[in-house]
Amino acid sequence: MDLKGSHVLVTGGAGFIGSHLVDACLQQGADDVVALDNFVNGSMKNIRHLRGNRRFRLESGDVRDIDTLRPLVDGADIIFNEAASKLVVSRTRPRIDMDTNIRGAFNVLECMKGTNKLMVHASTGSVLGNTEDVAMREDHPQNPTTLYGISKGTAERYVRFYAEEFGVRSCIVRYFHVFGPRQEYGGEAGVVSIFLGRVLKGRSPVIFGTGEQIRCLTYVRDDVAANFLLLDGLVKGNTTGEVFNCASHTRISVLALAEMIIRKYGPAGMKPEFGPARPGENLRPIPDTTKIEAMGFRESLTFEEGLDLTKDWVRNDLDDRS
Ligand SMILES: NC(=O)c1ccc[n+]([C@@H]2O[C@H](COP(=O)([O-])OP(=O)(O)OC[C@H]3O[C@@H](n4cnc5c(N)ncnc54)[C@H](O)[C@@H]3O)[C@@H](O)[C@H]2O)c1
Repeated sequence: MDLKGSHVLVTGGAGFIGSHLVDACLQQGADDVVALDNFVNGSMKNIRHLRGNRRFRLESGDVRDIDTLRPLVDGADIIFNEAASKLVVSRTRPRIDMDTNIRGAFNVLECMKGTNKLMVHASTGSVLGNTEDVAMREDHPQNPTTLYGISKGTAERYVRFYAEEFGVRSCIVRYFHVFGPRQEYGGEAGVVSIFLGRVLKGRSPVIFGTGEQIRCLTYVRDDVAANFLLLDGLVKGNTTGEVFNCASHTRISVLALAEMIIRKYGPAGMKPEFGPARPGENLRPIPDTTKIEAMGFRESLTFEEGLDLTKDWVRNDLDDRS
């Protein structure tokens, strides 16, 4: 998509997906791109290659603070709202989860009200909760099993309401399990990176629960491309107020993933370890992606190609740290 002449704001722009969106906007010719991040989880490393780029600006600040946000939204005509508090935080600090995921989205929408700006808002399959073997469409009943799923689902409702009631030109991309370079591998989220980080350090991957839980893993470049498809839809007026599941057709159990990573990159004889199941974990979050595919969404590489690229990044990052 040609973004020449555009001014872009990416909230959470120093994070995993946000920083890739920043790169893509610059590559597509945006006049300027501002990344807003409070660095609760983002990293300078994700954007350090942009130092000296006159079309890029970093704003350290918080989406919960409307006074910080308003001038940034005022200066943008396209917004990618990626800032969010993570699932793991919702267990220990639910107020931060609620405040960031609901108030943050609300603040962006309030700043957009009465303008012609466009926003693609990032949501998550966690809003849906579990299914058995049914691929969930966008309108599947929502039974979230975590506070994160509740806060992100509430934000979706705000986005849709502001679109319907106030004509705010926004839509929702609902990611499932995204993986790729820059995803942190030392924490508790991002199973591909975490397993890679451990195996490349010669440690066994740890599976929480039985390992039978399914992941629909999508390479980050494809999720970024989905944002531009939906943005284009906003320009044409056919995605406003709509929700789109976004995921690849890869369906892999956590156990099979661990075994694949060990086989490809680990030492002979390594075996996965097992830990206690995680409370509230969605075991089969399988989306129906017909709607976004009708917009033109396609996977651009195989899962193993994405895995190799991610492994290369984790390897380089480990080398950098040593
Ligand atoms: N990675 C996935 O698999 C996945 C899956 C489903 C949905 N999502 C959604 O995608 C979006 C991006 O997630 P990600 O994986 O890149 O996570 P991330 O943590 O790497 O990125 C989020 C960024 O938001 C920043 N942030 C958090 N609170 C903030 C605040 N109050 N003000 C400003 N910045 C703040 C963090 O510092 C971080 O840089 C989120 O909305 C998340 O809910 C991600």
